Amino acid sequence: MRITLLTAGLAAMLLGFGPSQAQESQTIVVFGASGNIGGLVVAEALERGHAVIGISRSPDRLTVEHPNFTARQGDVTDVESFTEVTSGADSVVISVQGNPEGDFDPANSTHARAASTAIAAFGAMEDAPYVIQVGGATTMLDTVEEMIAAAPMPVAEGTQPYSFLIGHRVALDTYLASDIDWTVITPPFGILGYSFGGITDTTRRGEYRTSTTGFVTDADGNSSIYVADLAAAMVDEAENRAFVRQRFTVGY
Ligand SMILES: NC(=O)c1ccc[n+]([C@@H]2O[C@H](COP(=O)([O-])OP(=O)(O)OC[C@H]3O[C@@H](n4cnc5c(N)ncnc54)[C@H](OP(=O)(O)O)[C@@H]3O)[C@@H](O)[C@H]2O)c1
Repeated sequence: MRITLLTAGLAAMLLGFGPSQAQESQTIVVFGASGNIGGLVVAEALERGHAVIGISRSPDRLTVEHPNFTARQGDVTDVESFTEVTSGADSVVISVQGNPEGDFDPANSTHARAASTAIAAFGAMEDAPYVIQVGGATTMLDTVEEMIAAAPMPVAEGTQPYSFLIGHRVALDTYLASDIDWTVITPPFGILGYSFGGITDTTRRGEYRTSTTGFVTDADGNSSIYVADLAAAMVDEAENRAFVRQRFTVGY
């Protein structure tokens, strides 16, 4: 499936969905608004006219100045906090990672706990917000052994990289077993313009393709996306809800 922003109107007519400037304005809560990917989601959503509530454990870190932006303190692993800050939202973006100090159990990773928190908060709620969580590329692979072999860094059980990697698997499995409206957007291994030190390039091609079954690859077999297009895909999904209760990935 190819999504091109330039042909958004036509795509919307033909396919019943697609990025659109004519979407109704939403209230989108972003956990991870202080982070690399979450920060770009905030910018993209504001650019499209949505109201954005950025969540951080330390909201002083959120320096976005925009009339439609609000910074709030919140914890994605705390059901009470999560429920409070997402009240009245249309969509909730979760773009987080981390571990409790010295605890490398994947089930306790922040991204795994975010999934169970969202389900605890929204499981019994009518018209709950749509949850869009960023996943991990290795979860496209079937087994833990394959995931470890494909990881871009050495991964030994009991270490933080293991917790990061497998935590995304736990999060995905947690959503799959739930009955809330969720999606996990799994980035490809190649996120262009992104490094663990920050965003290095905000190029936005304005197009990408999606898949629910395997990495999206180009003619040379490469799978990649600029981080700004990844953020755009997340806001597109908030607007279009094309992958409810499914995981999908993106690439060129
Ligand atoms: N190719 C791939 O598969 C790939 C590549 C890169 C990233 N990712 C995934 O994409 C996601 C975002 O990555 P990133 O590099 O943008 O992250 P990042 O820059 O490290 O930011 C992490 C965010 O998590 C938030 N956070 C941590 N614990 C929290 C808590 N308890 N409550 C609320 N917020 C919390 C932090 O907010 P505060 O500290 O302000 O509270 C921060 O904004 C992660 O899940 C990451 O694993 C996948």
